[in-house]
Amino acid sequence: MKKSLSLKKRHYLPLVLAAGVITGLAAWLLPSLYSSSPTAVQIVDEMEAVSGGAHPGFRRNHAKGQCISGHFESNGNAVEISHASLLQRGSVPLIGRLSAAGGDPSQADVHGMIRSMALRLADADGQTWYMAMNSVPVFPVNTPEGLYAQLRASMPEYGGSGPDPQKMQAFKNTHPEMRPFETWLAAHPEASGFDNSTFYSVNAFRMTDAQGRVHFVRWSMVPETPYKPMTSGQSRDPDFLAYGFATLLEQAPVRWHLLITLAEPGDVTTDATVRWPDGRRQIDAGTLVIDNQQSQVEGACRDVDFNPLELPAGIGPSDDPLLLAREAAYAESHRRRVEEEGTH
Ligand code: HEM
Repeated sequence: MKKSLSLKKRHYLPLVLAAGVITGLAAWLLPSLYSSSPTAVQIVDEMEAVSGGAHPGFRRNHAKGQCISGHFESNGNAVEISHASLLQRGSVPLIGRLSAAGGDPSQADVHGMIRSMALRLADADGQTWYMAMNSVPVFPVNTPEGLYAQLRASMPEYGGSGPDPQKMQAFKNTHPEMRPFETWLAAHPEASGFDNSTFYSVNAFRMTDAQGRVHFVRWSMVPETPYKPMTSGQSRDPDFLAYGFATLLEQAPVRWHLLITLAEPGDVTTDATVRWPDGRRQIDAGTLVIDNQQSQVEGACRDVDFNPLELPAGIGPSDDPLLLAREAAYAESHRRRVEEEGTH
């Protein structure tokens, strides 16, 4: 009996070993094959694909834009919720970028449904605050997986310029979280310029005051210039945004107010598709003054990675899963375009 068992063992040993090797391989391969969380490389590859391929030297999203510079005049009102030195009363210099979403740096401005503002505030103590804000207060999806699926559904139809309507509809059917984004866009026609657009942090962040108390916030840059919708005449000029902003700057600086909105208990801080109810307390923390604009090819914003997780002491990220995905994708896009700069 003993002998027959050991014979059996010997007989099965190769099978057992093979099974072990297969299980090990599967454990190593399956997560990368079936993992639902896309990598930054996958996301940026898809961004390139939906934009007709890579545009060397340019950002893989929000590719069309211009550099801006100016300063932020903090009035000190936000020190009650954050001990960030940049929010103490005083003035700090900044550089930034105004842009429109999309991966094609030559897209006509009428196609840039979402306008954007990115900023880097820096004080003398080396504290920096990077922001990348959009003109729509919600994002279409609330996870990196959702974004990846949206990008795949946006792939231009073979021979066409827009997405396959059936694929896009199928995506929307399985991603109802996109509705607030669509509803907002339908109710808010694009503004006539950068100067009268509001820009939103979209994701929630965490501010910590001098006593160590935590406050969940979202912020927005609200223009002093009243909103006006884009006209049909403007939409025929492919570059009306940069031209209009440069024309305004010839007369006077353009200003926005930093409004910080405080969450109340129960407000969701991990889902960028959900707005907080109206009536939340807001603090006007100061004035953003933009007095200069430069080409994005030569200006100071060119090589900057406006990573939204580059935050000063006193401001931190929320647990919104989009934030980490943004940090990784911006870094990957930055790596590609900076490497390409010397080659074209
Ligand atoms: C997971 C979600 C997101 C991903 C993967 C993503 C990805 C990217 C990438 C790859 C870039 C180009 C970065 C560079 O090369 O410097 C970019 C730019 C930008 N994104 Fe996002 N984004 C996401 C969500 C958002 C959200 C929620 C906002 C708005 C609040 C936003 C605002 C911006 C802005 C303003 C820029 C332009 C930055 C600049 O001017 O350099 N993004 N995004």
